[in-house]
Amino acid sequence: MSKIVYLNSKFVKFRDAKIHIEDRGLQFSDSVYEVISFYNQQLVDFEFHIKRLKYTLKELNIKYVVNKDKLKKIFKKIINLNKLKNGIIYMQITRGIQPRDHSYKNNLIPNLIIYVMNKKFNLPNKKFKGEKAITYKDLRWKRRDIKTVSLLANVLAKNEAVRKNAYEAILIDKGKITEATASNVWIVKNNKLFTHPTNTDILKGVTRESIKRIIKNNKLQLNEKSFTIKQLYNADEVFITSSTNLVTPIIKIDSKIINKGKIGNISLQLASLYANIFINE
Ligand code: PDD
Repeated sequence: MSKIVYLNSKFVKFRDAKIHIEDRGLQFSDSVYEVISFYNQQLVDFEFHIKRLKYTLKELNIKYVVNKDKLKKIFKKIINLNKLKNGIIYMQITRGIQPRDHSYKNNLIPNLIIYVMNKKFNLPNKKFKGEKAITYKDLRWKRRDIKTVSLLANVLAKNEAVRKNAYEAILIDKGKITEATASNVWIVKNNKLFTHPTNTDILKGVTRESIKRIIKNNKLQLNEKSFTIKQLYNADEVFITSSTNLVTPIIKIDSKIINKGKIGNISLQLASLYANIFINE
């Protein structure tokens, strides 16, 4: 855990970073977040994260004004203060404090929390790993495009994955794969890529956007079309993407082994191309 946290306008010691018990983030998950990677102390996909944060705040009418340059300075400083090289920034903005009431007042002052964690990323080198996943019912609300901390359905699914010695839970809604608990899901079939289209059923992943650009630049074929569990099981390759997982191949889903348990060529190609951006940002 980080030793120094940014809380509202101050850098404070971890143990001194306290939030009021009537903060709406605590009481209603009335709160949004971003997870931003950094490598060699350089922020990855920073602009995309800021864009999504603004969208999320607007959709929830949370009155936090994003100052991109100021946030960048805070991010850089907190990485330095905690002497980290590679890791993630966790940022949360709550609607603010108010006596418990489902409806909110319009004059609340949002609380801003930023801290950093060390992380080893799954990069395509000698230690590059494929992971196991399970499938699980998508129990979430209907605005998954909004990055809120209301993550209990994700928590239950991921916990079930871990209990079954798997790494991620791939979520199924009305027979279709939406995404996973903390990542977007992709399949490859006959050299074509498929991933769920961006609408309110999934989070528009920042990594997903980068991968889309790579796919386009490398003239690979992408269909932004949802797919079934049968298509998932019968895929030539499966991988997930996120700021924390980058491109991580999935080599087993439930009891079905994918691509004979090996990392597929397209997954490896995309992981390598993305890693070049990630490392050199
Ligand atoms: N989660 N879908 C969901 C439900 C997610 O929670 C995430 C990220 C993604 C991928 O988004 P991005 O590429 O912008 O990281 C997709 C973060 C990492 C988390 O909750 O820890």
